[in-house]
Amino acid sequence: MNVEERILELRRELNRHNHNYYVLNDPEISDLEYDMMMKELEALEKENPELYDSLSPTQRVGSDLTKGFGHVVHERPMLSLANTYSIDEVDEWFDRVKKGLEGQEFEITGEMKYDGTSISLTYEGGRLVRAVTRGDGTQGDDVTANVKTIRSIPLVLQPGDWPEKFEIRGEILMPWKVFDELNKEREYNEEPLFANPRNAASGTLKTQDPREVAKRKLDAIFYYLLSDDLPFDTHYDNMEAARKWGFKVSGEMKLLHSVNEVDAYIGYWDVARKELPVATDGLVFKVNSLQQQLNLGYTAKSPRWAVAFKFNPENACTKLRFVSFETGRMGIVTPVANLDPVLLSGTIVKRASLHNADIMRELDIHENDWLYVEKGGEIIPKITGVDKSRRNQDSKPVQFVSRCPVCGTPLVNKEGDAAWICPNKYGCRPQITGRIEHFCARRMMNIDGVGEETADLLYDKGLVKTPADLYDLTKDQLSILDRFGDKSAERILNGLESSRLVPFERVVYALSIPNVGETTAKRVAKSVKNMERMQSMSIEELQSIPDVGPVVAQGIHDFLRDPVNMENIRRLSEAGLQMSLGDDKMSSAGTALEGDSIVISGTFRHHSREEYKDMIEAYGGKNVGSISKKTSFVLAGENMGPAKYDKCQKLGIPIISEDEFLQKLGIKS
Ligand code: IVH
Repeated sequence: MNVEERILELRRELNRHNHNYYVLNDPEISDLEYDMMMKELEALEKENPELYDSLSPTQRVGSDLTKGFGHVVHERPMLSLANTYSIDEVDEWFDRVKKGLEGQEFEITGEMKYDGTSISLTYEGGRLVRAVTRGDGTQGDDVTANVKTIRSIPLVLQPGDWPEKFEIRGEILMPWKVFDELNKEREYNEEPLFANPRNAASGTLKTQDPREVAKRKLDAIFYYLLSDDLPFDTHYDNMEAARKWGFKVSGEMKLLHSVNEVDAYIGYWDVARKELPVATDGLVFKVNSLQQQLNLGYTAKSPRWAVAFKFNPENACTKLRFVSFETGRMGIVTPVANLDPVLLSGTIVKRASLHNADIMRELDIHENDWLYVEKGGEIIPKITGVDKSRRNQDSKPVQFVSRCPVCGTPLVNKEGDAAWICPNKYGCRPQITGRIEHFCARRMMNIDGVGEETADLLYDKGLVKTPADLYDLTKDQLSILDRFGDKSAERILNGLESSRLVPFERVVYALSIPNVGETTAKRVAKSVKNMERMQSMSIEELQSIPDVGPVVAQGIHDFLRDPVNMENIRRLSEAGLQMSLGDDKMSSAGTALEGDSIVISGTFRHHSREEYKDMIEAYGGKNVGSISKKTSFVLAGENMGPAKYDKCQKLGIPIISEDEFLQKLGIKS
């Protein structure tokens, strides 16, 4: 086989495995085998640039910055659907169809109405050529580069009877699980939360950096095929064909034959939809036969052959107990409605954020008010209004506080910004302990054992006020703390020790610079290369970093010129933290594991799994998920799984204990 044939074979195979994994949820090979094939393809493509293909499986990661989106006129306009909100209205639509078809037999497809952002994909010769958003229905944004990063979208189709040219429409979605994780991270970074997966999906799709999109794990489900030569004459059969070509098509799609079956479908999914991994806001019913669709035609806005049934968002009315004001790590004060508990969409709701002073004022909340709480596509309960008829005549409006609820400092607010902030950065407890906790968290310095409680304790005992103080802690100081034994003290000291290997970009993130989340920290670190340079940069220079706007630049600039922060950074640098970008991230640690593929298994005493992963990387090794012939050794803690143990025995892979491993790296003698 020559190189070209091998490249084509690898692309074909990787496309097939990708489809098995992301669409069918049924992988045939291990992640490791997949990675090995991908590596081989990457290497071959690098050596043979003339065989480049923009749709190769290697091109999913997202390429360089795309500036702005081009506009594309839809070949066929993207219409919307007529909405109904009751079973009766759907039944009326069914009767209109029946009448319109003058007594012909007909079938209806029932399917989910996915709540994401709509997309139109064009394929030619089985290859994706363009992805366009709905826009105004007539023209949309060309988001091809972003869409290519969505793993469940086939770039090249599976072999099949697909038309030479066709368009397929569907919904780009952010699964609930991904949405929850993203919001948790944003909440933590005190960034504005996405209200629902729909906003998150459309926000992500409009992001100007495909690499960022690639990380957000979007999904896509398709529901409409358009072409001059469709393979079948019914919607259902065409969608089933599309499924075979590699698209994710709603598994809930069903053929219905009577108004009773339609009603039963609604009754079933009204409840069952809550178990689906993605958000839905209703159901869509379509006449199945394409000929009958043509006969029924369109109104000015929407097809007569289809209708949407929208689920009611779940809401309740409950009594406000009190509004609490909470100060976060960045000093932002957030009002929170504390409610009489109510059951909404299967969870008990006791608290709902009122976000900021502006939103609180708009809602016009008075003491003891009855509030409407809603939880539709939203996971975070939302206060949508007040039942004023139940308000006590003499109850007073709830006022936003003028002082910090914790330290009493008068709050400040920047012109045009809804947030009120406690400026007492170095004297206000939740801000201080919040910064320590943030600094130690897994994605920052990863200091195992220092969470919220320990950060509070260390502060209350007067041991730690700034992250730099952590590096002066001694075992004796830690061991005498309440609830602390030798073991937990050692764990923290070990964590502090390994944090010296944590790469510069995570150090930047760990510092709690205003508006600098994980992504911005990475970008800034990569661009400035070291702390010294970052400290000397002007606001204008900082603004020239991609994605750093005037607000972020000002924040970084002021933070680095604050004497308290300057001292903290100086001491952290003295403690041995990475204050510049390593040649190859953390390569400074050593080369003891150069070229090794290492599997981690079991539970550990001295360091966490995450720390071992970091160490492997730092010493030039690679942490892999499953054992194969190519595994160099298994780093085994306690309770290594018996299947893994057997596999090692069979393949003759060495098993190394935690202590042996640390000795190998020269960390322990
Ligand atoms: S069919 C001409 N099917 O709902 C009919 N649309 O208001 C084309 N949607 O913009 C649409 N799930 O974004 C159809 N199973 C489904 C759908 C669906 C969600 C969205 C789509 C469209 C909007 C219609």
